[in-house]
Amino acid sequence: FNYKIERERRYILEVLFNGLRRLEYRGYDSSGIAIDAGECGSRGSVSSPLVFRQEGKIESLVRSVYEEVDASDLNLGESFSVHAGIAHTRWATHGVPSPRNSHPQSSGAGHEFLVVHNGIITNYEVLKETLVRHGYTFESDTDTEVIPKLAKFVFDKANDEEGVQTVTFSQVVMEVMRHLEGAYALIFKSSHYPNELIACKRGSPLLLGIRGEAEKVSCGTSFQDANLLRPNGQPKELFLSSDANAVVEHTRTFMVLEDDEDGGVTILKYDLGKVEINGIHRPASVHRALSVLEMEVEQIMKGNYDHFMQKEIHEQPESLTTTMRGRLISGDSSKAKGVLLGGLKDHLKTIRRSRRIVFIGCGTSYNAALAARPFMEELSGVPVTMEIASDLLDREGPIYREDTVVFVSQSGETADTLQALKYAKKNGALCVGITNTVGSAIARETDCGVHINAGCEIGVASTKAYTSQIVVMTMVALALGDDTISSQARREATLDGLLDLPNKVREVLKLNDELKSLAKLLMCEQSLLVFGRGCNYATALEGALKVKEVALMHSEGILAGEMKHGPLALVDETLPIIVIATHDACFRKQQSVIQQLHARKGRLIVICSKGDTSLVCTGGSCRVIEVPQVVDCLQPVINIVPLQLLAYHLTVLRGFNVDQPRNLAKSVTTQ
Ligand code: G6P
Repeated sequence: FNYKIERERRYILEVLFNGLRRLEYRGYDSSGIAIDAGECGSRGSVSSPLVFRQEGKIESLVRSVYEEVDASDLNLGESFSVHAGIAHTRWATHGVPSPRNSHPQSSGAGHEFLVVHNGIITNYEVLKETLVRHGYTFESDTDTEVIPKLAKFVFDKANDEEGVQTVTFSQVVMEVMRHLEGAYALIFKSSHYPNELIACKRGSPLLLGIRGEAEKVSCGTSFQDANLLRPNGQPKELFLSSDANAVVEHTRTFMVLEDDEDGGVTILKYDLGKVEINGIHRPASVHRALSVLEMEVEQIMKGNYDHFMQKEIHEQPESLTTTMRGRLISGDSSKAKGVLLGGLKDHLKTIRRSRRIVFIGCGTSYNAALAARPFMEELSGVPVTMEIASDLLDREGPIYREDTVVFVSQSGETADTLQALKYAKKNGALCVGITNTVGSAIARETDCGVHINAGCEIGVASTKAYTSQIVVMTMVALALGDDTISSQARREATLDGLLDLPNKVREVLKLNDELKSLAKLLMCEQSLLVFGRGCNYATALEGALKVKEVALMHSEGILAGEMKHGPLALVDETLPIIVIATHDACFRKQQSVIQQLHARKGRLIVICSKGDTSLVCTGGSCRVIEVPQVVDCLQPVINIVPLQLLAYHLTVLRGFNVDQPRNLAKSVTTQ
């Protein structure tokens, strides 16, 4: 970043630390920063940047930096008129969390080149071997370390040949890029090029934020037309990040960097307030439009809640309202008569004529698609098949030109889902994106789609995005079934259900204390089973996933129809079993499942529709959680809420980290 007025080192550190805190939900096992050592206005003055790296949460980095500052003669009051700093929070893929594996990774002594990296370098082993042959020694186990080392190699080679430093920073980076394979967003800093940062990307997300409240840039302005200098000629503050959250408190004016259209990388050079964007194959600057993000800082704050997951569970009535806003067409009186999904309207005919609709996702997003599948099949009349993204890729399963493939992803960046999208595109299918992140890779690369507009989700365990995804897919099904008379009554009932859904979710949230007391009862258990079927098979999988990922308790979602084919062997008086038995077409079958579990003295907790307690509690004793009944296709939205609350309370009671569960990350951008 760059400053209009002189800024102190403390300010610089705090901007970087705060950025990391906002990104911590994406990776939280180690972190690091590099800042300038002293004022470096003039080119050629080589002073090594200061680099700090630490294992553990961001706060341990913050502590270690300030401890070092106190113990050294580093002056926190020292001011800079220009400063370029980089920082990174890591989720380990190559090498255990440790300071030496944290970023910035360095070219070696003197930190001539430093790199922060989001993504994965797939050919790093070959590059490492070559560099080792040239005398380089490696200190980390990361794939990233080859990048700064390669930059130094390229730099030294060019300068040896020329005798003087003629090679530019961009040229060094471009040469490095030519050798890298994989997906990455990188930011380079170098002691040889003070005041310059080079960012480049291929596959992984990268945003440029421009600060300038006074000189707000309007949406759609070409980046080249936006004046990056203030009236007094001083450059504005600029921010590069893989996620808007890191910088939204400074600016909402962003430019999303795209991969180079020629299959190369985009290089963004920032030098004393001048910004250049180049494709690797084209030296000329590329014109890019700026966009203004509709996001408030409050969205990424916890407010009065103790945890983001808790906040996100409780804000579902509002997030669902936002998801539906402007999309339900009003009819007579207060009733809705249809749905309008702007991003899909031109493609509905093609989708209706598809040979199959294929839902693809990972984790919670897959479960949301599974919940929506029965209604989608019913209203579209098209067979709907399910694919876990990694499994489709492992099998290279068939995807046809006549297929519509729907990619469901909260982040829009999940590497497996993105890879599956590339695969489906190659096979000529119509690709539809359902994401929560405007400008994400999946949103950009699909042919059409719908944003779920659930608002920023920070808790690693997805909650409000899940319910909004189901609602969006229900609306897609309604749009597809729009022209059939036979389904009219069904559509009307669903539309009514959608309108009233936020109220019903508000009602089910009142069960919070009941779920807390159930959590107290179950907190010391080793294991938990959840039985569901029909639309609520997904609820069983998703409820079990929530308990597993945050409460770190073994938990399994089971299709109740499969009970007799194995799971029944586990049933005894001690193992807690949650059975979802709300009133729908599968209710009778679930009643019989309950009877059979009672017969084996199963320890049951039944989620049933309000007033159904006596119908589900015959044949044995069980604990009952009554939830409001809604139209069957929306019942999964209601039924998951008690399980989200249970997982939340179990986690708190068991003393685990709610928002940053062990070993997990919010966006898995590596395969
Ligand atoms: C990770 C997260 C999950 C999420 C899954 C898919 O595993 O921890 O919460 O469901 O990725 O993410 P996506 O952003 O594609 O929905």
